[in-house]
Amino acid sequence: MNPDPFPLPPDKVSPLEWTGDCLRVLDQRLLPSRIAYLDCRSAEDVAEATRSMALRGAPLIGVAAAFGMALAARRSDGPAGLSRAAEVLRRSRPTAVNLFHAVEHMLSVAHAANGDFADRLRREAEAYWKRDFEANRTMARTGSALLKRPCRVITYCNAGALATSGLGTSLGMIRYAFHEGKIEHVYPCETRPYLQGSRLTLWELMQCGIPATLITDNMAGHLMKTRPIGAVIVGSDRIAANGDVCNKIGTYMLAVLARHHRIPFYVVAPTTTVDFSARTGAAIPIEERNPDEVLTLAGQRIAPAGARAHHFAFDVTPRELVTAIVTEKGVVRPVNNKKLKEVVVRR
Ligand code: MRU
Repeated sequence: MNPDPFPLPPDKVSPLEWTGDCLRVLDQRLLPSRIAYLDCRSAEDVAEATRSMALRGAPLIGVAAAFGMALAARRSDGPAGLSRAAEVLRRSRPTAVNLFHAVEHMLSVAHAANGDFADRLRREAEAYWKRDFEANRTMARTGSALLKRPCRVITYCNAGALATSGLGTSLGMIRYAFHEGKIEHVYPCETRPYLQGSRLTLWELMQCGIPATLITDNMAGHLMKTRPIGAVIVGSDRIAANGDVCNKIGTYMLAVLARHHRIPFYVVAPTTTVDFSARTGAAIPIEERNPDEVLTLAGQRIAPAGARAHHFAFDVTPRELVTAIVTEKGVVRPVNNKKLKEVVVRR
């Protein structure tokens, strides 16, 4: 067997730190200017960190929720006492299904637990964290194998180490492929209005020494037309049973452009992102955030007083625009109900 060639240098900054009785959450709202952690000692604290976007990214939201349930277990006698914590966490953000997956998983572990209930939930949250870490690494290796020759790629939002427990999903694939000599250059889109691309993804790429140049979201089409782009690689917040992919607002636009320019469009996501109860993307709840986040930029108003704005935080890319979905259990290609089920439910 070939040893895994990726040395996996530890990231200098971790989005979560677990002390055993406190979840320390990197406040991503302050990046890239400042590194500061918030101490979460209850499910309510974790829900608030999630709601306020101090922590974000679908897999990380799920892992934090698992710890939120473990923190709640410390104050309760049994599974019945966890229902309020579960509800507070469920209400923190609506779109990333990993949150709901983690809460339901922790509740089922709680119901099956005998002996030291709080200890059992603490161990399970740690195991959930570790599984996400390992899934990242497998997806990175599997995704890199899809790239046949060195190329330039476009990515969107932040689906890196800051959004997960490990290398990241789409950024994990990019980091691994860079290590294998298959990435010449990365173009992260800025990702208006929350700027995850410029604040977080570019920061991560620079820390890893991967050549990267920031583009605004509306430059992607021009870039695809004028430069050789080998792939668009993104993460996901929820994948419907038919393979429709929900991700950060603007992803759909990129997928349409990629199809027009015959550029492969890859989605990298752990199986905890798949929601078989959503028949198609139309069933996925799309978070709508405060319009002020659109009407202002870095605290400055950029629209006339009294102006209205929409702030849809996510959109759905129809499966026919997705070349392949990379999961830790394998590659879904072609993207359809049968293949998705075959890969995700296989083991
Ligand atoms: O609103 P955010 O920052 O939580 O949105 C994050 C994204 O849309 C990511 O692309 C997605 O969660 C995948 S993260 C591995």
